[in-house]
Amino acid sequence: MPNNPTSNIQHPTSENIVWHDHHVSKAERAQIKQQKPCILWFTGLSGSGKSTIANAVEAALLAQKKHTYLLDGDNIRMGLNKGLGFSDEDRVENLRRIGEVAKLFVDAGIIVLTAFISPFRSERQRVRELVDEGEFIEVFVDTPLEVCESRDPKGLYKKARAGEISDFTGIDSPYEAPEFPEIHIRNDRLPIEEAAAQVLDHLEKKGYLNA
Ligand code: ADX
Repeated sequence: MPNNPTSNIQHPTSENIVWHDHHVSKAERAQIKQQKPCILWFTGLSGSGKSTIANAVEAALLAQKKHTYLLDGDNIRMGLNKGLGFSDEDRVENLRRIGEVAKLFVDAGIIVLTAFISPFRSERQRVRELVDEGEFIEVFVDTPLEVCESRDPKGLYKKARAGEISDFTGIDSPYEAPEFPEIHIRNDRLPIEEAAAQVLDHLEKKGYLNA
């Protein structure tokens, strides 16, 4: 019988894995792009406007020839995080993977925007700790539940109220608002351009756009 070296491995560990430093550094990758890489971590309820604002910010950055990438809740759940649901445990794993991917983008010198509910303070803090000081910018898209529910762009609040979806954030699953976000957008009746401008101003003032 041929030996199958992987057949007995149930839970591979990282015991025999060694981190390799690349020849090209993060600083060099960032420098050639003339920007300081970071994660713009948008957090807020479903329907709060995270994706809309993140899209507007990304478009504005592109117009300034900045190098960006947007990781978006629903899209990531169709691919990388396919199969993960909305239990507390699955949300933790969802955010852990996204945090690791975002960290790689930062290493690549990119300004990465993420739009996930990310309801738990502890998990957002974990991502903050994955990257260097100043590389994690928490953007709280603060829209009252009543407003999100009245918008209900995907009809999900209606389903959650009818008991057709369980563990829905704000209904029967908690949302822990950030205590000290770098950027706090009160997105109740705020024009999208103004919300995006708040983020762009922060990046400009803190020197992310001209490294
Ligand atoms: S997170 O909590 O793990 O950060 P994520 O942002 O990836 O959530 O996904 C949220 C999106 O999934 C929502 O915008 C909504 O479209 C959809 N969704 C489906 N079921 C739920 C649920 N039970 N709670 C929240 N969002 C849900």
